[in-house]
Amino acid sequence: MDKKVTVVGAGNVGATAAQRLAEKELCDVVLVDIIEGVPQGKSLDLTEAAPIEKHDAHLTGTNDYDASAGSDIVIITAGIPRKPGMSRDDLISTNAGIMKNVTKAVAQKSPDAVLIIVSNPLDAMCHVAYETSGFPKNRVMGMAGVLDSARFRAFISMELNVSVENTHAFVLGGHGDTMVPLPRYSTVAGIPITELMAQDRIDALVARTANGGAEIVSLLKTGSAYYAPASAAVEMAESILKDKKKILPCAAYLDGEYGLKGLFIGVPVKLGANGIEEIIEISLTDDETAALQKSAAAVAELKDVLAGIDY
Ligand code: APR
Repeated sequence: MDKKVTVVGAGNVGATAAQRLAEKELCDVVLVDIIEGVPQGKSLDLTEAAPIEKHDAHLTGTNDYDASAGSDIVIITAGIPRKPGMSRDDLISTNAGIMKNVTKAVAQKSPDAVLIIVSNPLDAMCHVAYETSGFPKNRVMGMAGVLDSARFRAFISMELNVSVENTHAFVLGGHGDTMVPLPRYSTVAGIPITELMAQDRIDALVARTANGGAEIVSLLKTGSAYYAPASAAVEMAESILKDKKKILPCAAYLDGEYGLKGLFIGVPVKLGANGIEEIIEISLTDDETAALQKSAAAVAELKDVLAGIDY
């Protein structure tokens, strides 16, 4: 393949992302992890599936970053996931240290890469990657909104018994309890769901979306969601690798947009070969603006926590 994507963290999210990238023949994949043998074993296993899955992507597993040199994109999933009873924010001190080390190594080997951050707490981890890499803001982003919107779309499709392909949804804000699903901008075949469902059903779907990650954690008990998170990260990577210029909700560094400054938060962006090529500002009602402000305040609080940690 003429493109290369490195996935750091060969755990549940990372290995699933590697599988999807290879099976879609988007790029060659380098899988990096600190545990010896795991990235090598998973890459070899995926390579042995290739003749059946009919793809020619090359997969390499490694414990250092040499093979990752010159990557077009690096997806960072390294870190610990949640267990039942934990919030994403409980992961901050462990994952900040991991994110810093990983970003240093990645930025050195792939100075022109786009970084897609997946590790939680997402918005705070984007900050660590942004500050450590020194990359411009268009080349550091977080995966959250695509996942949260996909969860909302899945619930809309189940509720109305329509194809998921007809659904479209927008979820803004931080990747946490304060995320902001926007029913007005969420549609089925172009029809806003506000015209298709009673308000109490919309409220129930919105609540389930905001709680979507915790619902999976409480079922799995030993970790957090990974199929949908991997799909979401790969959709972002695909738009960048193919310069598709899809409009997707992603955690982006805001510099005055939506009245917010110096924060990573989920907003609609245009993703192309240069990473975030545009931040799209949609008009919000007073209630939606207030919800976004509340979410931004939660992200700012985590940024303050980061500032107080020696990671
Ligand atoms: N360098 C490389 N890999 C690391 C490092 C590091 N410094 N530290 C940890 N890892 C690896 C672990 O060895 C493990 O294989 O990261 C991997 C994480 O995989 P899982 O434990 O399966 O976690 P996963 O479910 O993939 O979630 C990863 O994404 O969705 C978020 O909240 C989730 O922060 C978590 C991350």
